[in-house]
Amino acid sequence: MKTNQKVVIITGASSGMGRATALYLSKQGFIVYAGSRRPEKLFNIESQNLHPIKLDITDSKSIKEAISTLDRVDVLINNAGYGLVSTVEDVTEEEMFHQFNINVFGVLRVCKAVIPTMRSQNSGIIINISSFLGKIGLPLLTFYNASKYAVEGITDSLRYELKDFNIRVHSIMPGFFDTNFARDNLVINKKTFEEDSAYSTLVSTLAPQIIEQINNGNNAIEVAQLILEIIEKDDFVAHQTAGDKAKKFIPMKRELSDEDFERRVIAYYHL
Ligand SMILES: NC(=O)c1ccc[n+]([C@@H]2O[C@H](COP(=O)([O-])OP(=O)(O)OC[C@H]3O[C@@H](n4cnc5c(N)ncnc54)[C@H](OP(=O)(O)O)[C@@H]3O)[C@@H](O)[C@H]2O)c1
Repeated sequence: MKTNQKVVIITGASSGMGRATALYLSKQGFIVYAGSRRPEKLFNIESQNLHPIKLDITDSKSIKEAISTLDRVDVLINNAGYGLVSTVEDVTEEEMFHQFNINVFGVLRVCKAVIPTMRSQNSGIIINISSFLGKIGLPLLTFYNASKYAVEGITDSLRYELKDFNIRVHSIMPGFFDTNFARDNLVINKKTFEEDSAYSTLVSTLAPQIIEQINNGNNAIEVAQLILEIIEKDDFVAHQTAGDKAKKFIPMKRELSDEDFERRVIAYYHL
């Protein structure tokens, strides 16, 4: 390994934004460790700069082992995540804990494992992929929303905690992106989706719109390019939007009163 090449770790790199970012950064000359539960899915893009590694973000021991083999870590990209689609009334204990186990505790576990290395280097960049739904609520996505609001909070707190060690922390809030997210990583609660559910009108109104917007969303390469910008610019802002829907709704949320914003969302999604 050339000593001037920066080392990047990405979680959930087997598809979507993680995969696009792994490929893009490796082509830009970074040494990328592309973490996945199924690293074999990355073997077809393995190269001198792109190394698939097994990384299960629910398992602290396996994360520590994976990180301990690396001499340095310049950039950590916490990308792995999925979306639980359930009403609060129907959710099971297992479903709600699992949503936080991946989207929130997974981020914290990997940060915990990587920070000692970054601290000893006196440098590092952590980029958390949250969502515009980390600032905006939607029905049926309460648990996903809560997990991404938490990622925004983690980003804010860690920025203070790590600034004296020259470690920058950022979040990216994507809008809807055309990845495998709608196909593979929207996990539904069966009861919520039953025909005789009290929420059936809400489900039949909102769910198809969300799926359609994800499948017609922006290209994951935009997130990869934004990540490179964040890496290259020392004073990059803490939280950045990506994609059309985030660029539309996040400024609107900032500008309008809570009540006016809510009215816009209700009208937009016919809720
Ligand atoms: N697509 C969108 O519209 C959108 C919008 C806003 C935010 N996001 C966020 O962007 C990130 C990347 O998603 P994507 O759109 O690129 O979707 P994707 O193509 O479905 O990729 C999601 C990745 O997350 C990992 N993952 C999913 N469930 C997991 C689990 N139970 N345990 C561990 N890892 C799991 C998978 O990693 P492995 O299989 O490789 O382990 C997978 O590669 C996620 O955090 C998502 O919440 C997506």
